[in-house]
Amino acid sequence: MAINNAHIDKIFSKLLPEIVPTAEEIAETNEYSNELMGRLKGVMPKDVEIILAGSVARGTQIRGKSDIDIFLLFPKYMEEREMEHKAIELSKKIINKENGESYEINYAEHPYIKLINKLKSISADIVPAFKIRDSSERASAVDRTQLHNIFVLKSLNGKQKDDVRILKYILQRHNIYGAESSKHGFSGYLCELLIAYYGSITRLLNEIADTKLPMLIDVSKHYAVAGKDVPKEYAKRFNSAIIVIDPTDPNRNVAASVSPESISRLILISRELLSNPSMDAIYGYKYSDTEKVTSLDKFLKSNGLELDCMCFKLPNISEDTLWPQLDKLKNRIDHEANNNGFPMIVSFSRIELNLGVIAFLHNHNEIGSRKVIGPEVTIKAAADEFLKKHSGEMKIGVEGTKIISIEKPAYKNFRELLNNVISDRKFDFTKDIKKNKCVIHSNKLPEDYKLIVYHGLIEKLNI
Ligand code: UTP
Ligand code: MN
Repeated sequence: MAINNAHIDKIFSKLLPEIVPTAEEIAETNEYSNELMGRLKGVMPKDVEIILAGSVARGTQIRGKSDIDIFLLFPKYMEEREMEHKAIELSKKIINKENGESYEINYAEHPYIKLINKLKSISADIVPAFKIRDSSERASAVDRTQLHNIFVLKSLNGKQKDDVRILKYILQRHNIYGAESSKHGFSGYLCELLIAYYGSITRLLNEIADTKLPMLIDVSKHYAVAGKDVPKEYAKRFNSAIIVIDPTDPNRNVAASVSPESISRLILISRELLSNPSMDAIYGYKYSDTEKVTSLDKFLKSNGLELDCMCFKLPNISEDTLWPQLDKLKNRIDHEANNNGFPMIVSFSRIELNLGVIAFLHNHNEIGSRKVIGPEVTIKAAADEFLKKHSGEMKIGVEGTKIISIEKPAYKNFRELLNNVISDRKFDFTKDIKKNKCVIHSNKLPEDYKLIVYHGLIEKLNI
């Protein structure tokens, strides 16, 4: 691979002025976070320490995304429920409606308040945690944040903070930034650790372009394993394609949220950036909403694909709760479809605002039979049972060491299977995904759902 680091560095210095927050934005965010912290100080008990955390505190935020993260550190002898209750009730008191402020309660390790200022278009998470000195004291994910702050501030210089911003931006453009369950991506803290470890964004790209998987990064050398081969016990213990040991807690893999697909994408993106350094490679695939109608139809037609889509109106709950339920349902139906002779070419679940889709793309299918794979012939009882159930002239055979049988299909096409999933009382959906909020559309979708499917497809097939 022809590597041209000088060229890529030039591209990055062109990008940087676009993504570093302006001096005004930084001043306004600082002023507002100081004001909020002052107000919190006024209502919280004296033994609660109030700190600014997250990317705004560390100087690694991207322009226009200066969301404030304030942590309330309670003494650790306090009882958990009492701490949660106090944090919420007292935080509410600082909301100033006349200033354009409102709040919602969100749920992470503990419930916390998200303060939204409509006039300033800034939001601030006010998150309670316990005050700790190291991870052995008490190590919930939010308790660790105060330690992350200290580590990042002492480990990154100004140039490296800018490199974190570049990395976050590249990941965002390619839809693999964020530790939310629906993204399977890289968190802000993980980006900071990767830059601290590799020293620079250019070095990071060079290393990732040539990495093997699983890859292990032990930032603070907790385990003192040099070299690139991950010792088997770590690979097994953390069970992940990328393992980044938290410098503040050797028992935690900071990259646990990163799926094999996401790290694989970063490997391909790194190679593309190095061999063809350009703004286009940074921006990734661009889609234009105005072309969506024709683009989706064209895509289906030119690939000879059919689309069946479950369209949902979703309850007003966070995407982090809903998406895993939607995706679980998708996986069950995928499995069912496969067993019934309908392999999918692409399928995905996606949520935008309060609408959700599960999209299934497959070949035109009207099937005459399906193959049922039975047990190993050596498992006598199961084999006998299978033969009792499945019989007929020229219907039964052996493949490898398993019995197989040719059966009439339970459904002639995939749409029939989907209809059955809806009408079958024994096929339960999940807690927040309701059957009666689901409408199935084939090929012709209402416009708003069509846009969501188009976005999902672009994200899946954008390399
Ligand atoms: P944020 O999600 O706001 O990330 O979490 P960030 O680092 O500020 O990055 P951006 O720029 O807003 O996207 C705030 C802090 O909470 C902790 C981290 O220490 C993070 O910096 N955190 C958050 C975790 O430890 N794990 C998580 O999954 C999320
Ligand atoms: Mn943040």
